[in-house]
Order: sequence, then C-alpha cells, then structure tokens
Amino acid sequence: GSVVPFHGAHQAGIVTPAQDRLHFASFRMVRGATRDDLIALLQDWTAAAEQLCRGEALGTGIESEDPLLPPDDTGEAEGLHAGHLTLTFGLGHQLFTGEEDDADPFGIRAKLPDTFTPLPSFAFDLLEATQSGGDLCVQACADDPQIAVHAIRNLARIAIGRAHLSWSQLGFGRTSSTSRDQETPRNLFGFKDGTMNIMSDERAALDAHVWVGGSAPEWMRGGTYLVARKILMTIETWDRTSLLEQERVFGRTKRTGGPATGGGEFEQPDFTATNAAGEPTIDIAAHVRLAHPDQNGGARILRRGYNYVDGSNGLGQMGGGLFFISFQRDPAMFVRVQQSLKPDLLNEYIRHIGSGLWAVPRGIAQGEFVAQALFE
Ligand code: HEM
Repeated sequence: GSVVPFHGAHQAGIVTPAQDRLHFASFRMVRGATRDDLIALLQDWTAAAEQLCRGEALGTGIESEDPLLPPDDTGEAEGLHAGHLTLTFGLGHQLFTGEEDDADPFGIRAKLPDTFTPLPSFAFDLLEATQSGGDLCVQACADDPQIAVHAIRNLARIAIGRAHLSWSQLGFGRTSSTSRDQETPRNLFGFKDGTMNIMSDERAALDAHVWVGGSAPEWMRGGTYLVARKILMTIETWDRTSLLEQERVFGRTKRTGGPATGGGEFEQPDFTATNAAGEPTIDIAAHVRLAHPDQNGGARILRRGYNYVDGSNGLGQMGGGLFFISFQRDPAMFVRVQQSLKPDLLNEYIRHIGSGLWAVPRGIAQGEFVAQALFE
C-alpha cells in the first residue's frame, strides 16, 4: 500500500524515496509554555502522527460523538489513504536556550549537543524573519498536497495553547532523488537536481555523513540535522540567459545532466580537464565544482528539497525557487558547503530569503513519543 512506517531507528522522510509534495511548517512555543506543555505537545503530536501516517482520520474522525463540538478530524483527507505521508519532527536551538540565548525554558539545556550551534550569516543572505527559524519544525511529505496540508493543519490545531504555526511552505516536484529507482527530477532552472546526492541504499555514506553517531547525547544518536533554505530564483533573468551560460553556471549539460567534461548523467566530472584555450572545462566557479566533496574536506549532505511558487509580484515576476532541505550529521557540514559556494556563478540568479536549522531526534519505537529520550 501507500503507508510509510512511522516508527524505526531513524525518523521517516529522510531516506524515504522523496514524495512529490511538501508542506513544511515551523512552530513557536507560546510565551510562558512549560516543560510539561512541551512534553504533552510531543505526546499528542506523536499519537496524531501515527494515525495520520497510517492514513486514518484522527480520533473519532469527521463525525464527533458530540455534535456541539468540532469533529476530531478536519475531514479534507477523508478517503485519500496514507499517500506515503511522512512527518519528520525537528527541534530548534532556541528551544534549549530561550530567545536571548541565556535561559533554559524547558529544562533541556544540559542535553544540547556541542555541535548544535545556530547557522552563521552567509554572504548574500537576504533572510526574512517571517520565513526563518522556529522552535519546532514538521516536514510533511506525501504524494498528494491535500494529504500533506491536512497533516500540518491538524498538528497546528492540536498545538493550540502550547505552540502556534509561525510560517509554512508548500513545495512540489521534489528536486532531489534519494534513490536510483527514481528518475532524477528537475528544478525550476530546468536542470536535473540530485544526481550526486547520497542515495538511501548507501549505508556507509549515510552513517558517515547523515546519521549522528556515538558521542552525541542519546536522544540524537541515529538522528540528524535539518537545514532549510528558502532560495528565490530570479527566473526571468535565467530564462533570458544563453544555454551556454546556463551550462557554465552548473558545469553540467541541460539535456542529460552529465558533466561538462563528457559522459552520461552519472559520469564523474573531471575537474582538471582544460579546453583548447587552456581554460578549465568546468568553470572554476561552477556550482558542481564548488559544492563537490573534494572542495569541502569530503563533506557530503543529503539534499531533499522541493520547488515552490508563491504567486507573482506586481512586476510580472514569479515568486518561485527552491525550498532547499538538507540532512547532515553536523550543521558544520552544511556551513562548509554553503561558505564554499560564496563565489558560485549561481549566486547571480538566486537569493536566500529564508533559513532554519533543527535537530531531528532519532526515530522512536512503538509506545515512545518523539524526542522522549530528551526528557529522561
Ligand atoms: C549539485 C542546483 C543550491 C549543494 C547541484 C546540481 C544542480 C544544483 C543542478 C547538479 C546535479 C546534482 O548533483 O544534484 C542547485 C540550485 C540551487 C542549489 C538551483 C539553488 C537554487 C545549493 C545549496 C547547496 C547545494 C544551497 C548547499 C549548501 C549541492 C551539492 C551538490 C549540488 C552538495 C552535489 C555536488 C557534487 O557532489 O557533485 N545543485 N543547487 N546546492 N548542489 Fe546545488
């Protein structure tokens, strides 16, 4: 069927073959919320997530026992089945330290991993507070947007009085494959995206680059860190750019996705090759050169982003781009790659306008609630 198991050593929605649709949500705890509120919220969310991921309606469904009360389930996913829904939960840095970085509002500061530090600001960042940060995040992925939206909507409803929805993002057309069984999809620049991604069957690479290992606090062992970056693409400018320039920006061909140095999509690029004029065949500032592990001390990240379009502006421009999501065992790995992208040719065509970093606790067994080990 279309059910992805919610329980396991790792949370679902990371190496799960990327579904086509995303609803990503960031929540903030309400002022004055207590440790017990946070625990109760995570317990309620876990119970709801188990039902939602099985494709079941919440509680007594759309018909409440008492017609004077609203039904337990909002109803719009009635009859749609599970649709490969995954719900992936993350915890923001402020949850551990308070907004001013000098508090311990939920009594969990002692469990803060050393590696969990906020992202620095990067060259060209144009971040908007209204689409950045948050105490808790939920990544909902499904085959059908109605299913993903239904899940976030009901989790937001359940959170009332304890946390509120701070911002959220819809996405479509997964921009990265996490499995070679899936054909590599294309981003809004029309290029194949995800070719050199870490794939779900690369066990050794996942352990080396994605899953948090031995020395971390128990609640994070088998967890990972989620980075989200809302990246606006100046699509109209790109669409007036020659094919030659477009391919120079990435260092790959538009048709096959193969490297500029030849071969099919999965051929290794040859960064040492030069053309007749003695210039590097893959530009020294091409995206795939700068993002490549060779340029980044071997760091690899698992990308799992989505295209988005949030309508258009009054100048006839589309407000669209890439809702970039990556998973890595240490936020420093993302920082390393993003810093190395400073001279990237791509920067002329993109703007980072939103950002977030969350610790994604390990997966749970039946009977546990998400992040339970954090409170023990
Ligand atoms: C590779 C597009 C932003 C990290 C690629 C590829 C494309 C692409 C087309 C080549 C195919 C592939 O291997 O997937 C984009 C676009 C972006 C963007 C359109 C912004 C709108 C980023 C960011 C990061 C990143 C912010 C991380 C900080 C990577 C990595 C690779 C890659 C690690 C693989 C490099 C390799 O091992 O060959 N990207 N990317 N990208 N990108 Fe991006």
